[in-house]
Amino acid sequence: MTAARPPEDAKTPSGGSEPREAGERGGHMNDALLRLLNVESAYGPIKAIRGVSLQVARGQIATVLGSNGAGKTTILKTISGIIDPRKGSVEFKGQDITAKDPAFIVQQGLSHVPEGREVFPLLSVRDNLLMGAYTRRDRDGVARDMEQVFAYFPILRERAAQDAGLLSGGQQQMLAISRALMAAPELILLDEPSLGLSPRLTKEIFEIVVRINRERGTTLLLVEQNANMALNAADHGYVLENGRIVMEDTCARLREKEDIKEFYLGMKDAGVRGERRWKKKKTWR
Ligand SMILES: Nc1ncnc2c1ncn2[C@@H]1O[C@H](COP(=O)(O)OP(=O)(O)OP(=O)(O)O)[C@@H](O)[C@H]1O
Ligand SMILES: [Mg+2]
Repeated sequence: MTAARPPEDAKTPSGGSEPREAGERGGHMNDALLRLLNVESAYGPIKAIRGVSLQVARGQIATVLGSNGAGKTTILKTISGIIDPRKGSVEFKGQDITAKDPAFIVQQGLSHVPEGREVFPLLSVRDNLLMGAYTRRDRDGVARDMEQVFAYFPILRERAAQDAGLLSGGQQQMLAISRALMAAPELILLDEPSLGLSPRLTKEIFEIVVRINRERGTTLLLVEQNANMALNAADHGYVLENGRIVMEDTCARLREKEDIKEFYLGMKDAGVRGERRWKKKKTWR
């Protein structure tokens, strides 16, 4: 379903990429793989997200952009069942998965790559990958997917027998993404893959993320502070501020918006977390 879209597409910063948008025009709202409706989640008295509604179309990459503390991680944790929302609903493949058990949600085909990777440091790289596939019974499929992740990230093949805790941050991110892939998910939730990585490594990881989407047809929901990378990789974007969605559009159009240019894309080489200025207050229009 996504095979029609050429991979170069993702690297075109200027928008105007017709095949990507054709999908959105026709089916963005109708063919939602994931749908959040008025979701509200809190930590004790702290309301982290306040009535978030969003959709992820099947076969696409969607992104939620937001600064520190905006509620990005909370959205993903609520989707994958790690925290239960106070209000609202989460629907995956037309099925209500609100507040369901995380293991059940993984079995439905939804994998979560958490913030800060969280690989098992004392297990080998290979065993980490196999942990991702623990619910699967199709041994041939698991072996095939292992080969495929090694093709995406050759360094993981080289380090397959080594403890995952010895990998660099970037390699651990590769492993975390690969472990999610080993569950053969239909949807991957990806929490700030650029966190702590160099601009070069961030670019490399985003290129693979786009390939995973194009080649496997895996749908992705990516949350990021790195708007530059996320808006180039994704099809549809949401801007989150203080737990609320304040803007939504195709990424091609978001890249052209003055507010986005000014506050999210304004700095050159905004690839390293911490270089960007998120502190400014802004009213979205
Ligand atoms: N375990 C927790 N207990 C209390 N408050 C929390 C907890 N986790 C997050 N929060 C608060 O909820 C709000 C949203 O946090 P969240 O982690 O979702 O933001 P984020 O957008 O992922 O930020 P970052 O970019 O820094 O990862 C913040 O105000 C944060 O302080
Ligand atoms: Mg976070």
